[in-house]
Amino acid sequence: MGKIIPRLKTFSEQGGCMNRVTTIRAFDDNFIYLCEHVGGVVFVVDPGDSTAVFDILKARGLTLSAILLTHHHFDHVQGAGRVKSASGCEVVALRGSRVSGVDRCIGDGETMELGPVRVRLLATPGHTADSVCYYVGPFEGECGMLFTGDTLFTGGCGRLLECDARTMWDSLGKIAALPEDTLVYPGHDYTQENYEFALTIEPGNKAVQGLLGSGDFAPPSTISREKETNIFLRATCGEVKAALAMPDAPDSEVFAELRRRKDIFG
Ligand SMILES: [Fe+2]
Repeated sequence: MGKIIPRLKTFSEQGGCMNRVTTIRAFDDNFIYLCEHVGGVVFVVDPGDSTAVFDILKARGLTLSAILLTHHHFDHVQGAGRVKSASGCEVVALRGSRVSGVDRCIGDGETMELGPVRVRLLATPGHTADSVCYYVGPFEGECGMLFTGDTLFTGGCGRLLECDARTMWDSLGKIAALPEDTLVYPGHDYTQENYEFALTIEPGNKAVQGLLGSGDFAPPSTISREKETNIFLRATCGEVKAALAMPDAPDSEVFAELRRRKDIFG
């Protein structure tokens, strides 16, 4: 059974009141997200564990509108069929993805409307060829949200299983271009090891030191925080290039070296 992370960060905590996002921990380190819009729209992202989702839907008396899937890996999709069967909701994924049982396929940059909730799919190949992120645009006075699957983690990024480093770097660039206050909801909790790795490259990064010391890794992060603390997004920084002895290398090659070192680090 999944465990609901007790400290829920919501739009209301950011000054709004239109959405509530509940983070559900599943398996060893997966995150499932349940998003409730005040107008009654409810969707879930990557329900790898259907039991965890059923528990919270039942406890709150919610009716699910949609299941959003970020890529085809088993730990993200294996509960989707059962959740769909029980709720009758639609399953959404990238057009052409390897996910089976999809009801609505959307392409890169296309927007889907779930009642008043507008969800834009960003194709972000790198971890897998069919990896996507879902961007929920901001309601008035509130922050947008980005569900990143295994593309971007708090302090890290996914392993390159089906694509090359340049492809992933371009995908991370799409994410970095989103508004700074966008709330980031990743698919796994690898935060501690990501920060420990980052400090092997940037031992003087005080923001990373502070977050690692706090031990508070509960989602969401933000785009601005990731730019400050995610070593992979910092491949553009002169300090990082110097630390890798790659002062004049293109950003994508610096990223590739960081990814290679992280694969060895663990
Ligand atoms: Fe994955």
